[in-house]
Amino acid sequence: MNWVLITEFPQELCFSENGMLEMELEGRKFTLAKWAEGYYAFAQKCPHASGRMASGYINAQGQVVCPLHRYAFDMKNGRNTTGEGYFLKTYPVETRPDGIFIGFKPNSFF
Ligand code: FES
Repeated sequence: MNWVLITEFPQELCFSENGMLEMELEGRKFTLAKWAEGYYAFAQKCPHASGRMASGYINAQGQVVCPLHRYAFDMKNGRNTTGEGYFLKTYPVETRPDGIFIGFKPNSFF
């Protein structure tokens, strides 16, 4: 796993009101979410029909809901909790004393 620094200063991240923002690091685009004091990272686009996940919302169970057809996904493991059988790519995020890091598998561009 290649750990890449997202920021040394998490308080300076500009999340939208829905708790999400789109980012690009090392050529990889992803969505970063903040929910219940934790950080989650997952694909920029929905696996169903490419809805922009950052334009959706996070429901009361902490699942990200796509803005297009409202399929919901577990932000930790990408499981499609509304049961349509899709899988949202997720990335590990670690909060360390020196910042927030995202883990990319080597040679993985998805
Ligand atoms: S594009 Fe996301 S639910 Fe259809």
